[in-house]
Amino acid sequence: MLRLLVIALLTAITISSAAAQNLEVIKARKDLLSDMGDAAKQPGKMMKQEIPFDSDTVKASLDVFIDKASKLPELFPEDSKTGGKTEALPALWENKDDVISRFKKLVDTAQAAKNNVADEFDFIDTWPTVVGNCGGCHKKYRVEKK
Ligand code: HEC
Repeated sequence: MLRLLVIALLTAITISSAAAQNLEVIKARKDLLSDMGDAAKQPGKMMKQEIPFDSDTVKASLDVFIDKASKLPELFPEDSKTGGKTEALPALWENKDDVISRFKKLVDTAQAAKNNVADEFDFIDTWPTVVGNCGGCHKKYRVEKK
């Protein structure tokens, strides 16, 4: 009897830790993506001329994109397709190579943009190219926002 109980308990622990791992990676990627969303806000306001242009703030945001987008390709394992309120579409896992290269392209674009945001005119030319990477991927691989 006791033995059965122990086995049942161990099984329960194994199952719950497998599920927890999956939710952990979903939370981890959402956190990184959400950091990128926050980093995009100030420069977005500068584009709309709601706040004054500031080159250092823009560079700091680009650094956030570079840092987070370098880590993101690892955070879409097979066991994270559902759960944790994920908004990732199943198509993402069918096109893993494309997704990885899109994150890499974001890193490269942001890296290149760092040399091209010293003044406001360059910034206005450059920023849409950088954030175009965000929208392009969301359109294909993220649940559409209502
Ligand atoms: C290669 C694809 C890809 C790129 C590039 C990308 N995203 Fe996303 N993004 C996603 C996916 C997929 C999700 C949904 C993740 C989930 O819910 O599991 C997402 C979700 C988000 C979220 C919501 C996070 C949350 O808390 O649920 C924000 C904010 C976001 N992205 C901002 C950005 C910004 C800003 C950029 C560009 C600087 C960007 N993303 C670039 C694929 C991408």
